[in-house]
Amino acid sequence: MKIIKTKDYEHMSRVTANLLSAQVIMKPDCVLGLATGSTPVGVYKQLVQWFQKGDLDFSEVTSVNLDEYKGLSPENDQSYRYFMNHNLFDHINIRKDHTFVPNGLEPDAEKACDDYNKIIHDLGGIDLQLLGLGNNGHIGFNEPSSSFEKETHCVDLTQSTIDANARFFSSLSEVPRQAYTMGIQTIMQAKKIIVAVSGQGKASIVKEAFFGPITPQVPASVLQLHSDVTVVGDEAALSMLPH
Ligand code: F6R
Repeated sequence: MKIIKTKDYEHMSRVTANLLSAQVIMKPDCVLGLATGSTPVGVYKQLVQWFQKGDLDFSEVTSVNLDEYKGLSPENDQSYRYFMNHNLFDHINIRKDHTFVPNGLEPDAEKACDDYNKIIHDLGGIDLQLLGLGNNGHIGFNEPSSSFEKETHCVDLTQSTIDANARFFSSLSEVPRQAYTMGIQTIMQAKKIIVAVSGQGKASIVKEAFFGPITPQVPASVLQLHSDVTVVGDEAALSMLPH
């Protein structure tokens, strides 16, 4: 595992965007695994700027997102499809029909997950997966549990995740209780993984995930077993790591 220490959120965003850009330049028809949440917003902003300058071309790129709330439509401004369109896809030349997010409107969870697994398999897997890290160690919506989940599945979100996400909704009761998420196995099969982390609030879970025991209670800890993981963090998020 490589750890890149950056000064602050902006610097972390630039470094992460550089790593994603390198992937797109080296393999223009790559499959990028993408994340939502607060952390990658600056990364996407940077990618959009470089695209607008003419330095990046996404015309052959395909993307698969980690997760989507069950029950939210693409037009709902809290859906992850909306987030991705708004923060990235609407501003670059990626083909919209080459961008995939689990179908939050599919009420049949088994079908939604099977369909998504098939998409990822048919693409031949993910070249580079970008991850954020949940306060409880989740990656995607793989919440702490007694076993590592496998492929795309439907999850009941934990209270800690519901509380953390409540800031995006007008009331706690509006926060969806379930989501479709890529599983740990799918994430682990990505050729390369980047974990972007920022802020003091993440410092203790960063230490636990990457320097603690590998356990389903801290889903991100499984990343210690992957052969090509890069953690890009600002000083605050990495402040509890051993030197
Ligand atoms: C988002 C996702 C989540 C977030 C995590 C961190 O697609 O899968 O695992 O990456 O909850 O969220 P932020 O970046 O908001 O701290």
